[in-house]
Amino acid sequence: MKILLFGKHGQLGWELHRSLQGLGQVLAYDYPEIDFTAPSSLRRIVEDSQSQIVINAAAYTDVDKAESESEQAKLINTDAPSILAETCRGLGAAFIHYSTDYVFDGTKGTPYTEEDFPHPLNIYGRTKLAGEQAILKAGGVNLIFRTAWVYSLRRDSFVTKVLRWAHSQTEMHIVDDQVSNPTWARALADITAQLLAKAEPDPLAWLAERCGLYHLAGRGDASRFEWAKEILNYHEKKAPQLVINVHPACSADFPTPAARPNISALDCGKFEQIFNLQLPGWKDALRLAMEEEKATL
Ligand SMILES: NC(=O)c1ccc[n+]([C@@H]2O[C@H](COP(=O)([O-])OP(=O)(O)OC[C@H]3O[C@@H](n4cnc5c(N)ncnc54)[C@H](OP(=O)(O)O)[C@@H]3O)[C@@H](O)[C@H]2O)c1
Repeated sequence: MKILLFGKHGQLGWELHRSLQGLGQVLAYDYPEIDFTAPSSLRRIVEDSQSQIVINAAAYTDVDKAESESEQAKLINTDAPSILAETCRGLGAAFIHYSTDYVFDGTKGTPYTEEDFPHPLNIYGRTKLAGEQAILKAGGVNLIFRTAWVYSLRRDSFVTKVLRWAHSQTEMHIVDDQVSNPTWARALADITAQLLAKAEPDPLAWLAERCGLYHLAGRGDASRFEWAKEILNYHEKKAPQLVINVHPACSADFPTPAARPNISALDCGKFEQIFNLQLPGWKDALRLAMEEEKATL
């Protein structure tokens, strides 16, 4: 299998680059070798690679900064994926792309399914939703995986932030009114590779029968407060922490440029049923991540 990967230095892309190795030849790029804000070069890279599978883990992911850099976010999250999907369709390659729970406004109260109507609250969510729509409109063999609260300990993430705060503050206040599915980047990469392994010996035909939009995030949901408490529990034994108390707080206490949904947890039943694969529970994955990865604080 010949695979072309974009975003190889990102949380997910770095893990994909590792997980995909057993499947065949993997050609991987990231900024600045390729720049999604200048998408004209993308077509040529995809064509020259002669890949059967193109995976896009590159994205504009700074949710707050996107509010003031909407054009940049649109180029990276909407226009570039649209060009990649069109190019893949023209070449007969499959396109795998990741999207976000932030396409939802978080008011439903229970986990969202693929049937639920998206209504993003911020620019990041709007550019990602427009990316999904452009990919689906392009046609061809596309798989879009909406995921949520992706973390790794290699790059700055909620997990590394909590660990950093725990070493610098005695009292921590973490929002309790944002709920979703913490998703370890490595588990998401591994399940993508497992899915592609199942697609052999004719990956295009296999994926063509299963293409579309899926929710794919860590099993179970948690508030950021619950997630932070679990991070500190697992870390406790390894390093001395300054923090004495962790207090639940409201999003309104921490105004940010971008509004965030309250309950944006995803129901991943469709993915589990179609692919007969599932991500680990978020607590199990977190424990593994904290055992295996070295945090860069
Ligand atoms: N992180 C989350 O909590 C979360 C939640 C839901 C969904 N997702 C989705 O999951 C996917 C993976 O997210 P992630 O957390 O792994 O993202 P990430 O760590 O921010 O990685 C994104 C990658 O894209 C690259 N990139 C940025 N601007 C670029 C440009 N102009 N041209 C080419 N590449 C560029 C980044 O390079 P630099 O490092 O040089 O900027 C980085 O390597 C994305 O589709 C994201 O929308 C993420």
